[in-house]
Amino acid sequence: MSDRVTPPADGCDVFDLGHDHEQVVFANDPATGLRAIIAIHSTALGPALGGTRFYPYASTAAALQDVLNLSRGMSYKAALAGLDLGGGKAVIVGDPASAKSEPLLRAYGRHVQSLGGRYLTACDVGTFSEDMDVIARECAFVTGRTVAHGGAGDSSVLTAYGVFQGMRAAASVAWGTTSLEGRTVGVAGVGKVGRHLVRHLLDDGASVVVTDVSEGALARLREEHPAVRLVGSTEELVASQLDVYAPCALGGALTDEVVGVLSARIVCGAANNQLAHPGVEKALEERGIIYAPDYCVNAGGLIQVADELEGFSFDRARQRATGIFDTTLRVLELASYEGVPSAIAADRLAERRMREVGRLRGMWLGR
Ligand SMILES: NC(=O)c1ccc[n+]([C@@H]2O[C@H](COP(=O)([O-])OP(=O)(O)OC[C@H]3O[C@@H](n4cnc5c(N)ncnc54)[C@H](O)[C@@H]3O)[C@@H](O)[C@H]2O)c1
Repeated sequence: MSDRVTPPADGCDVFDLGHDHEQVVFANDPATGLRAIIAIHSTALGPALGGTRFYPYASTAAALQDVLNLSRGMSYKAALAGLDLGGGKAVIVGDPASAKSEPLLRAYGRHVQSLGGRYLTACDVGTFSEDMDVIARECAFVTGRTVAHGGAGDSSVLTAYGVFQGMRAAASVAWGTTSLEGRTVGVAGVGKVGRHLVRHLLDDGASVVVTDVSEGALARLREEHPAVRLVGSTEELVASQLDVYAPCALGGALTDEVVGVLSARIVCGAANNQLAHPGVEKALEERGIIYAPDYCVNAGGLIQVADELEGFSFDRARQRATGIFDTTLRVLELASYEGVPSAIAADRLAERRMREVGRLRGMWLGR
């Protein structure tokens, strides 16, 4: 890793925590209050792309742990999606509601610029396309910008589309048909992605049951799709009779308890980091539940912001996101062939591509 690394004050060792990372940068600007960490996990396949999370972490150690995990995940997601991109992520420490300002974002943009394109930033929790426009005033390595600035805008459209493609692939393995007609699908979380997913499911003839903690999100969905059935909680949803469960809210949705009560044959949703702890993937497999790995099926948003780097074409990005169907099928077939859970099969495919294609790209041709 880079010699610019500074160990955090509370004693954890960044070299141990980020043992597989290429570079970790601590960006500091006392005048604007900027405290950020940029983690580049791998550039084996290309520049590291990943969003900037603006979040009030309780400690530097917590921020560091998060950015290291998230950047590693981005390497795997880009590799499996077939993109020529590596994995990176950044976190800005602070409450975006009070700490976000033009000077702070611009100071952050100058730090990203200083990396010369090894890290490309985009939106994540706490940052929006409008923020990317501000960062771009100091920095050339920004995507996920507003439509007014030539960007692709909201990435949830293609994220939902990709999840739907992954679900069709899982359905073909479970039932021998890609159609979800007549199936009951439970969607937990009908925010930006879940809402679009519901539309795809209804168009395909599925019955949809949803839950959300936000009354506003439910009211909006009900207005758009009166046929959707609502239940009071995620606990109620997972315990009800389902063919497919789609976690589209927060991470950690698949706990031992959830796997224990689930009647669904397939789990396929947009949420990141769905497996609550290592071992849950095995429990799913033992119960005969087909798990379409989260980072495999939710790559549509990444595909969208990656496309923007070439000058955004919705049709081209959508075409590429259609490929999530084939990728999911490959993952499920490899899992069956090698006798491993699908989450392990996805990691193996991603690692193979990073190793094999990354080795070729190690012969640097100056671009
Ligand atoms: N937006 C994207 O392009 C994208 C890309 C990849 C992955 N994801 C992941 O997909 C998930 C959803 O993303 P989003 O952009 O739709 O976010 P969002 O914030 O718009 O929607 C999330 C919804 O989940 C609801 N929710 C929160 N806690 C809940 C709970 N305990 N039970 C039920 N509902 C709950 C919220 O009220 C909200 O309506 C997140 O995990 C995100 O990381 C999103």
